[in-house]
Amino acid sequence: MKIDYEQLAKMAIDAKQMSYSPYSQFSVGAALLAKNGKIYTGCNVESAAYSPSNCAERTAIFKAVSEGDREFAAIAVAGSHKDSTPDYCYPCGVCRQVLNEFCEDDFIIIAAKTNTDYHIHKLGELLPHSFKI
Ligand code: THU
Repeated sequence: MKIDYEQLAKMAIDAKQMSYSPYSQFSVGAALLAKNGKIYTGCNVESAAYSPSNCAERTAIFKAVSEGDREFAAIAVAGSHKDSTPDYCYPCGVCRQVLNEFCEDDFIIIAAKTNTDYHIHKLGELLPHSFKI
């Protein structure tokens, strides 16, 4: 399917605004494109107990799966610390594994610095030799 990288990058950057990250001060946004064309956004949501915190990518995936979508083409991720200029932001290992649950090796990951400056990878490249049952 046709993937509008700039649109997904912009939506991830916009979703970053919703981040609840008072402990790390690191805001992350994600925009997940389902194969049916729907786009689910997510942000990181932290907890005072730290470990219950959820990453932006998993927020987007859990929103999508809970609404009946399980087939995905791409995700854009944008993240930055409040005192730093945005750099390319990649999904953490836990999120890569959760993406791997629903996505094939050719699933596209867009690490967005701005809506026109981003790196494009495939899931199989960022999580090689992945564990699947
Ligand atoms: N975070 C994400 O939302 N996605 C990632 O892939 C990496 C980390 C969040 C978790 C935590 O709220 C903050 O960034 C700092 O680690």
